[in-house]
Amino acid sequence: MAINDNFLRDLQERTDIEQLVGSYLDLKRRGKTLVGLCPFHNEKTPSFTVYPESNSFYCFGCGAGGDAITFIRRIENLDYIEAVKFVAQAAGMKMPEDGFDDTLSKKRGRILSANREAARFFHKTLYSEAGKEGLSYFAKRMLSKETIIHFGLGFAPDSWDSLRNHLKSLGFSDMELYEANLIKRSEKNGAVHWYDNFRKRVMFPIIDLRGNVVGFSGRVLDDSKPKYVNTADTLVYKKGNGIFAMNFAKNANDGKFILVEGQMDVITLHQAGFTNAIACLGTAFTQEQANLISRYADEVYICYDSDGAGQSATKKALAVLGSTGLRVRIVRLEGGKDADEIIKLYGKERFRALLEGAANKIEYDIIRERAKYNLSTDDGMMNFLNAAADILAAVGNIERDIYAARLANETGVSKEAILAKAVQRSAAVRKKAVERKRAQETRMLTDIKDKNNPEKEKNLRAARAEEIIIASLARNPDFYKKFKSDLTPDLFITAFNKRILTVLLQKLESENGVELSFFAAYFNPEEMDSITRIFRLGEEISNTPEEIGDCIETLKKEKSTVGIKASELSDEEFAKLFRKNKNTGW
Ligand code: UTP
Ligand code: MN
Repeated sequence: MAINDNFLRDLQERTDIEQLVGSYLDLKRRGKTLVGLCPFHNEKTPSFTVYPESNSFYCFGCGAGGDAITFIRRIENLDYIEAVKFVAQAAGMKMPEDGFDDTLSKKRGRILSANREAARFFHKTLYSEAGKEGLSYFAKRMLSKETIIHFGLGFAPDSWDSLRNHLKSLGFSDMELYEANLIKRSEKNGAVHWYDNFRKRVMFPIIDLRGNVVGFSGRVLDDSKPKYVNTADTLVYKKGNGIFAMNFAKNANDGKFILVEGQMDVITLHQAGFTNAIACLGTAFTQEQANLISRYADEVYICYDSDGAGQSATKKALAVLGSTGLRVRIVRLEGGKDADEIIKLYGKERFRALLEGAANKIEYDIIRERAKYNLSTDDGMMNFLNAAADILAAVGNIERDIYAARLANETGVSKEAILAKAVQRSAAVRKKAVERKRAQETRMLTDIKDKNNPEKEKNLRAARAEEIIIASLARNPDFYKKFKSDLTPDLFITAFNKRILTVLLQKLESENGVELSFFAAYFNPEEMDSITRIFRLGEEISNTPEEIGDCIETLKKEKSTVGIKASELSDEEFAKLFRKNKNTGW
């Protein structure tokens, strides 16, 4: 199983998290904690906090959190065992010879080699008799031979078993291929059949930052549906993390990325010399993708399709990217439906001009405000100018001057009056920003959503009681005895918290104390974010046995009504409750 607790405890005691994290970023002392700019997302004001007392870190901006091992896993992109070795080496400790399990990392290795062989097979097929259609499809899309090689494009033949047969001849088992999502299974009359997942499609390998083939996207040759078949989530690939061509773009970029919707757009742009184009794969643009982008760029040109879907995707991407502190510009693809079409119809100079004419966030915000009001009425004009003044109040002097002049030109109101209004509003706007940041920190800890606990939102009252129990027991292991008989995993309702409790109980039973680093063996770095957040919650609660008793009661009641009623406690009520408890206890 996992590395034993004594070793982890020693490691923790010998690891100076301040020094370890401090070797990657600048930390400034703030009371008992240290703060710095988060290495996992781009930001201008520090939200990344290191807690030397508990040997942990948490970012109030993006929610990344964990212990020293989790930090190294993320920043060095290592798996658990590798990260433990890394931290142990830094602390001058030798790893125990046995007592850990590397089956998972072996499995990952097998999936990656199967993927690599599959990519090789698809690419070779493209140039064979079975791949003729694929090659002529790429020719029709005007891809050069060099481009096809550069991206490792290929063709999955019109066959149910040629990839499977090929990979089996190389020694891969059906189970391995199944776990790589390269083959699928069906059952007929009790007999299991395996068949190739990708058939008669042109193939786009998805390559991660380390050059591993983590998955594929396959496109049909005609108009049939589904247009694309993509690798489902596997041990080496998660849709919400995938970014197409990031492996190339990260080297090409001068701090700028062009974000487009599809892989064909990316490929066409790279071929035309825009080698900083990327596409986020998966349906929704996620915070993880935004964070990864922000590690390699400080400006993103959002260049989504000009249709309605593209425009609403732009709004969503803006919201996610906005929280990372990246500068964002919005490209309007006038005259074509997507970047691929613009290049093909009008050439790369036209595309370059569109990039240069892209609206920045200030312009985009002003455009959006303008659209809300009827500027032909006095009232509409006043409201628009007030909203615009608020936007200008939050920006630097030079930008303020430029946009005030433009607005004056547009509206006929004097530039001085607009500037005066913006200055007058700036203190209020700044105060609001500080309040928003503070509220955001509380919200991070008490959010109704948790990416690792999808059941939380629907079972809010229960999930919150569960979190308080975990936070309190982790901080006050001596409370455990009193509630031992009630505290079984069955008490919990949400599956994720149940898993945390299971590990927690095991640690409480062994009387080894409770350390965040004990959890890093059982949970992946994303899951550690949530566990760290819950542990942080310990700062906000009253930490009394009564509080745990109340939460147990709540859970028992919820258990009998689960699924019937959602929590009546609103987000604000919940935040208020915390503030009150801090002062008075309950
Ligand atoms: P589009 O339908 O805009 O495709 O979907 P496209 O990129 O313009 O492709 P071409 O030019 O017709 O070949 C945009 C992206 O959404 C994903 C793909 O990543 C695609 O590139 N998508 C689309 C899917 O994953 N599945 C689908 O069935 C369709
Ligand atoms: Mn297209």
